[in-house]
Amino acid sequence: MKPVRKAIFPVGGLGTRFLPATKALPKEMLPIVDKPLIEYAVDEARAAGIEEFIFVTGRGKSAIEDHFDNHYELEQTLAERGKQDELEQVNQAKLDAGQVAYVRQMSPLGLGHAVWCARNLVNDEPFAVLLADDLIQADTPTLAEMVDVYETHGGNVVSLMEVPDHHTSRYGIVEPGESNGRLVEIRGLIEKPAPADAPSNLAIVGRYVLQPSIMNHLSEAKTGAGNEIQLTDSMMAMVGEVPFNGLRLEGIRYDCGTKSGFLAAGIAFALMREDLAPEVRERIGRLLEAE
Ligand code: G1P
Repeated sequence: MKPVRKAIFPVGGLGTRFLPATKALPKEMLPIVDKPLIEYAVDEARAAGIEEFIFVTGRGKSAIEDHFDNHYELEQTLAERGKQDELEQVNQAKLDAGQVAYVRQMSPLGLGHAVWCARNLVNDEPFAVLLADDLIQADTPTLAEMVDVYETHGGNVVSLMEVPDHHTSRYGIVEPGESNGRLVEIRGLIEKPAPADAPSNLAIVGRYVLQPSIMNHLSEAKTGAGNEIQLTDSMMAMVGEVPFNGLRLEGIRYDCGTKSGFLAAGIAFALMREDLAPEVRERIGRLLEAE
């Protein structure tokens, strides 16, 4: 069984929900406290043993490339001023030379298309996909748990969470088979079904471990829900071809693709920080009293 060494980060989206903030700034660079969203996803991938980081980008996304690169002037200035903590944080974010690749999606044709754009970099290895919009607060990093499942069962692995019945049309929804603790056998998948058509209320969180053969399905993929090439449709085509499991998420998932989810994540992550929590708690308290 080949190890999962590569991860794809689809970051080509326009971020229209966050305009005007995202007119000149990639939405993935919006900070949760003091770290851009994309760095949380990269850290989660690192914690799962990922060695190659593939970003599927688009126009206006060069800030992401700069973020993971050297910045000699800044680093020198921080060193000269004795700002060791800041220097360490800046250094931590960096990816090593040759560890990172950027490929352009060119046209925003959907998540399935974004993943397919990385086919020549993925080659014949299994790979992870992380959607930075889905920020996960968990004791054990979610992707690392999924890689463990892959190492035992092989095939494809997706992360799952229960959603209210009336929210099924926002997610990829799975048809579950047998369950064993948090592990759920996947018998089918459908992208954004109406509640009446949903086979369950188990939704896919933006974390995937996939077999490279999905690229063959994506090559032939037709547009699906929302008139986009959906990753979910090509995963569906693999049911029966490879082992396919879901792992129920243990932790909290924030949908940072929405304003309220993004704001909630900012508050939640600030409340986890010893240096910020007391003051943030007090300020929120005062705001709520004044309402
Ligand atoms: C994408 C996937 C969907 C998944 C969701 C998780 O949808 O297509 O299957 O449930 O991410 O966030 P999007 O949020 O891009 O519409």
